[in-house]
Amino acid sequence: MNISTEISRRRTFAIISHPDAGKTTLTEKLLLFGGAIQVAGAVKSNKITKAATSDFLEIEKQRGISVATSVMTFDYNGNRVNILDTPGHKDFAEDTYRTLTAVDSVILVVDSAKGVEEQTRKLMEVCRMRATPVMIFVNKLDREGKDSFDLLEELEKELKIAACPFTWPIGRGSNFKGVYNLYKKSVQLYTPQKSGKSEILVSTNDTENSKLKEILGQEALNLLWEETGLAAEIFEPFQKNLYREGYLAPVFFGSALNNFGVLELLETFLEIAPSPSKAEAYERTIQPGEDNFAGFIFKIHANLDPNHRNRIAFLRVCSGKFERNKLYYHTRLDKKMRFSSPAAFLASSRSTIDEAFPGDVIGLYDTGNLKIGDTLTEGEVLHIKGVPNFSPEILKEVINLDPQKTKQLEKGVRQLTDEGLAQLFVQQPGNKKIIGTVGELQYDVIKFRLEHEYGAKCNFQPLPFVKACWLTSDSKEALNEIVNRKSSVVAFDKENTPVFLAESDWVVKIAKETFPQVKFHTSSEVVISNT
Ligand code: G4P
Repeated sequence: MNISTEISRRRTFAIISHPDAGKTTLTEKLLLFGGAIQVAGAVKSNKITKAATSDFLEIEKQRGISVATSVMTFDYNGNRVNILDTPGHKDFAEDTYRTLTAVDSVILVVDSAKGVEEQTRKLMEVCRMRATPVMIFVNKLDREGKDSFDLLEELEKELKIAACPFTWPIGRGSNFKGVYNLYKKSVQLYTPQKSGKSEILVSTNDTENSKLKEILGQEALNLLWEETGLAAEIFEPFQKNLYREGYLAPVFFGSALNNFGVLELLETFLEIAPSPSKAEAYERTIQPGEDNFAGFIFKIHANLDPNHRNRIAFLRVCSGKFERNKLYYHTRLDKKMRFSSPAAFLASSRSTIDEAFPGDVIGLYDTGNLKIGDTLTEGEVLHIKGVPNFSPEILKEVINLDPQKTKQLEKGVRQLTDEGLAQLFVQQPGNKKIIGTVGELQYDVIKFRLEHEYGAKCNFQPLPFVKACWLTSDSKEALNEIVNRKSSVVAFDKENTPVFLAESDWVVKIAKETFPQVKFHTSSEVVISNT
């Protein structure tokens, strides 16, 4: 197969949700359809359970398991499907945000009873920033939930996207019978099954079908036509270009657990979701069909064996063909590298691959050469954009508890933050190290790993900040002025960009008014693109 055929048959996406909405269950059902697993429960997701929040050893164990499920690949009807898993735990949200830079679209799962939740909103913001096409799966229709119209309106309002119902639920709760596809004008009625493929009782586009009437009854059918007629009047009709541009989200109703509506989702997804498209580098736009290979690292997973500090770096192929044992150019280090055992992922197993195409994600074993954001090419100097840092919500100062191990601490903090576990900011004078995260859990993990992998001991002293804003300005003087006048609340990130640490949004507002020539950014993306 040539490259363009390989590209057009690929779909690389992530399933995202607020914890407990059903991401893991849906992922598993898709894998079942794809034949990648045979029984439900075969996949342990990246999910870090609630019980583990105070037990970081358990977290590490779970993270270890999740390496294998970070990418799940299967073939379905000639398509190559790559699902990128994201951690459900909110303290690992940064990891999720970064994964979103490596996908071409997402499926957002929403609990029909809870509607839009905190993480749903945040994840959607990241999708919006990157104009990622979003499809929504409203889950748990087998339970009593919100009214479908109310829910669609809530999605539009809270997620700031046009909601376009693609399927419509028939019945609710214990009375949930199936879905009507508004575009194919077909009805699918099922019997519930907790595992495996659910049995389709009726699949028809004949609305006068006698079995349909027999199972649903005329009253339920009348209600269905009434509701779908109304829905067609209220909500945007489906337009592929608007979906592809991130303005409109096709909405599907169903129950992942009972396998209701999942096949509709998968088949429509394969039909309308984009195949791998262009990638932006600071130097130029890269087209997937180019002859030469280019790819970037978006995630690094530490190996759990502390005696061998090797790790797996996840690379997304953006153009050309990646080949095993070929020499590639590491742009940041200006050095050639060869990979003898690149890994592909299939459900819970890993296998060495010989080649990979745009849209594919491969695991590269690394001993410390690769960093999040690094670009590999066939020789051209390219820096692929798109792995920004987002403002942390918790900031703490690193307190060294063993001065004899200062060097180890320094190295550990740098390497762990290179992995993307947390962000490092340095404040002068005194070379104060400040670690920023989105969750408390990260501090436990860092402390544990510093001790076990680097032999360094530290504590974290809480700082009163809840936000970090990257600072830029067209005027060098204005930038110097804020750095000097506000030195107690300005630190520098790893790229030496000044960052304003704030105790509240109000403090940021006042600072903006005081320094009108300075721009405050809540992600480092704008900053990187200016350099
Ligand atoms: P997550 O990855 O988004 O965090 O959610 P996950 O799939 O783990 O689902 C969270 C809980 O919701 C699980 O129950 C799961 O069984 C349940 N669930 C998922 N889809 C549906 C659905 O369509 N209908 C109903 N009624 N429940 C659903 P749990 O009790 O937390 O875990 P488990 O013991 O069932 O694994």
